[in-house]
Amino acid sequence: MTSTSPQQPISVVVLISGSGSNLQAIIDATNSGELPVTISAVISNRPDVKGLQRAQQAGIDTRVVDHKDFPDRDVFDAELQMCIDSFSPDLVILAGFMRILTEGFVEHYTGRMLNIHPALLPNFPGLNTHERALESGVEQHGASVHFVTTEVDGGPIVLQASLAVYADDTAETLAARVLEQEHLIFPQAIKWYAEGRLTFQDNHVYLDGTQLPATGIDYADDKANN
Ligand code: GRF
Repeated sequence: MTSTSPQQPISVVVLISGSGSNLQAIIDATNSGELPVTISAVISNRPDVKGLQRAQQAGIDTRVVDHKDFPDRDVFDAELQMCIDSFSPDLVILAGFMRILTEGFVEHYTGRMLNIHPALLPNFPGLNTHERALESGVEQHGASVHFVTTEVDGGPIVLQASLAVYADDTAETLAARVLEQEHLIFPQAIKWYAEGRLTFQDNHVYLDGTQLPATGIDYADDKANN
């Protein structure tokens, strides 16, 4: 008789700057048993944000490393890195973490740091993605999960969800629909990583050993095939 041992959860640290609705999606997926991760800590660069309350309500350790307390990015990132590493996570998750990170910091976590971005990368890296999508008149918009590399929002893409832009969309209505998709694709990508199916090598992403296309997996296709 063969027996399979239940999968050991990986340890993750989640970095936030605000509302933490993506964090909540990760907490919910973890609590429902879908996601084999232990959230070892939630770290925010802003005090008093809703995301910290969400973490506390879920019984998760929280820390604040306030960027305003540090003279420059290097010193801030060094403190942040020390704080993260004190939890020895297998994966660092940027869930609405709104700071540009220094090269040394990013290199320290290469291949073990994922970010969610509210646009179909490589379109609209950076800020104000919904406004820019509306201004440019694109018909499709969406969200991307990608590994973090030193190129801001330029790391290899794991998963994307796209949606139609409506003629009467505002930045707010579009943001709300994109956020719903973020809450689906982020836990999915983290699950693949936790299961050891998602790997990063030489700036490329592999799922089950197969290299992913430049725009990652399309969430709609993934759902259709599973
Ligand atoms: C999300 O749209 C994320 O993609 C962006 O900031 C927002 C954070 O939302 N970087 P929340 O804090 O997870 O609710």
